[in-house]
Amino acid sequence: MSEFINKTALVTGAGAGIGRATAVALSVKGAKVIVTDFNEISGNETVSEITAMGGKAVFYSLDVSKSEEISSTIKEIFKKEGSIDFAVNNAGIGGNLAPIHTLDVKDWNNTLNINLTGVFCCLQSQIQCMLQNGFGRIVNIASMAGIKGVGGGSAYSASKHGVLGLTKSAAIEYGTHNIRVNAVCPGFIDTEMIKSVPKKILDFNTQVNPMKRIGTTKEVADTIVWLLSNESSFVNGSSMSIDGGYGNV
Ligand SMILES: NC(=O)c1ccc[n+]([C@@H]2O[C@H](COP(=O)([O-])OP(=O)(O)OC[C@H]3O[C@@H](n4cnc5c(N)ncnc54)[C@H](O)[C@@H]3O)[C@@H](O)[C@H]2O)c1
Repeated sequence: MSEFINKTALVTGAGAGIGRATAVALSVKGAKVIVTDFNEISGNETVSEITAMGGKAVFYSLDVSKSEEISSTIKEIFKKEGSIDFAVNNAGIGGNLAPIHTLDVKDWNNTLNINLTGVFCCLQSQIQCMLQNGFGRIVNIASMAGIKGVGGGSAYSASKHGVLGLTKSAAIEYGTHNIRVNAVCPGFIDTEMIKSVPKKILDFNTQVNPMKRIGTTKEVADTIVWLLSNESSFVNGSSMSIDGGYGNV
């Protein structure tokens, strides 16, 4: 996988969880990682982790709920770094959970704004840069909830279904421009995000999961790296499940 050496790889929400693991995995492959997050402290911790391992990384503050900030920051990154070769649109939230008839439209809008419009705006700015260089590989982080409904999590599920539609459309629009766009659909993964999931739901998932466990951030990161690499050269617009087979149950 020498294709990552001295190339730039931008990861959103790279201060924790899946984003941090992906940033680390990309640096191990030789990429200079553009670590972005709205949390400067955790983002800089990711940079320190990478540099302590001998990798290259730089932090840019980026809040994916703010469309103008996305556009200006990605332009700034492109100008300073010269390219954005790889991008992973990972930043996302679980959002407030409630049945549809009581869900506040503000909560709906907030979840959709971060999880779907945030990915759209990042994708748009990244593709503008990639078109100039004639090369790009993008992975968007959807979810098992992008394939199945989630009782009490309609906004989250709708946002992740939207990410898959956006990914498939982008794959069609930019396939001839040497830009591939794919998505991953993780099941429950061991991060801060699942701390708010009720224990009985996690236990049930583990019980029915063919592999009888939740996933690790490294397992998601390694799949993302594969989708960004030349080894997946004819994979475009796909939604790869990383769920131990739970989606088939
Ligand atoms: N953990 C899971 O079980 C799971 C399963 C499926 C999909 N996902 C998806 O994976 C992605 C990462 O989730 P995670 O579990 O690593 O979560 P996490 O909470 O551990 O990390 C999320 C990161 O995103 C950052 N972030 C949040 N809002 C942001 C914003 N507005 N702008 C920029 N950065 C922001 C946080 O600071 C944090 O560093 C999300 O899109 C999530 O929906 C997670």
